Amino acid sequence: MITHHSSPVTTRLILGIETSCDETSVAVIDGEGRVLSNIIASQVEQHAKYGGVVPEVAARAHLENLPATLERALTHGGVSLDNIDIVAATAGPGLIGALLVGLSAASALAFARGIPLVPVNHLEGHLFSAFLTPDGQPARTVEYPFHGLVVSGGHAELVRVEEDRVVPLARTRDDAPGEAFDKVARRAGLPYPGGPVIDRIAAKSRGGSLALPIGRPGDGSNDFSFSGLKTAMLREFEKRGVSGAPLDPDAIDADLADLFASFQRAIVDALLERVEAIHQTEGIERLALSGGVAANSELRERLTAWGHQRRVSVLLPARALTTDNAAMIAWAGWLRHRREGPRAASPAPARSRWPLGT
Ligand code: KG4
Ligand code: ZN
Repeated sequence: MITHHSSPVTTRLILGIETSCDETSVAVIDGEGRVLSNIIASQVEQHAKYGGVVPEVAARAHLENLPATLERALTHGGVSLDNIDIVAATAGPGLIGALLVGLSAASALAFARGIPLVPVNHLEGHLFSAFLTPDGQPARTVEYPFHGLVVSGGHAELVRVEEDRVVPLARTRDDAPGEAFDKVARRAGLPYPGGPVIDRIAAKSRGGSLALPIGRPGDGSNDFSFSGLKTAMLREFEKRGVSGAPLDPDAIDADLADLFASFQRAIVDALLERVEAIHQTEGIERLALSGGVAANSELRERLTAWGHQRRVSVLLPARALTTDNAAMIAWAGWLRHRREGPRAASPAPARSRWPLGT
């Protein structure tokens, strides 16, 4: 994706670098959150034949893709490295080898130019992505506190975001929703990644007649669980003789389409149920949705409807900014830098695990 913006830039310029998983991305934004460029080199094709991301393949691909991606981000943003004031890079959570590629490049750039390096939590990047617009407009004002629902291939997190801290309220105990979409799709023989494919099938079917189990840890917490739903789907596949042989998403029968629609509905039900529970306990004023699964049509529609009903302002990220991208990393890094000021020039370690709020 390319976003071009041509009006003169008077504020600071932030370079963002994202390499935590299977997208190599470099972006330039300004201090008002205008996205000047946001280049994403996807590795989906390299991983598709394995049905998921292979860490070693990802690290190598980042190494190959990063120089050209950086070059394109600067060119499309109409800037040179000399104009950059701050570098923000994803430091975790993610695949350690993949993270190291982006983070080392960012450290080198910051060192060579004598400018600050801001290590960014990938989840924090998603969290604030709903405030950005993809079309060169300034970002929407971030008002605290707000609640955030991050749903991706690796995470399901519901948090309260205050000016100086992030408070975790619920997370998944097992699979992430995107992971459930991907695994179920793979088991059915559908292409990777499974989320967009199932979204499309479900939209055409307008079905969803089957009641599937929504997991809930039995300890009174609001945590999510999606592995029971996944297991239930595997049983349904067995019943229907779905073998895992390649399946054409455009040629599946009505019964199977209804099953996928039911699966998607169960995931959205689970997410909405927890959002409602948190709303009942502490009152949500603003809810920012984010992460790859935030591209899901049913989730976007039903969360918006919920917001109308409850008078909660629901912020949806632009679809182009839902999956991994460096614009959101630059934005989160800039917000943190503005909040906390320049940090000591210590090297930022890459962290495979980095829970929000720590
Ligand atoms: O945020 P992301 O790019 O990477 C992670 O940080 O995990 O999210 C990727 C995930 C994949 O699991 C993909 O299947 C899912 O987002 N996804 C969707 C849709 N588009 C992408 N899931 C449901 N519906 C979609 N339309
Ligand atoms: Zn992500």
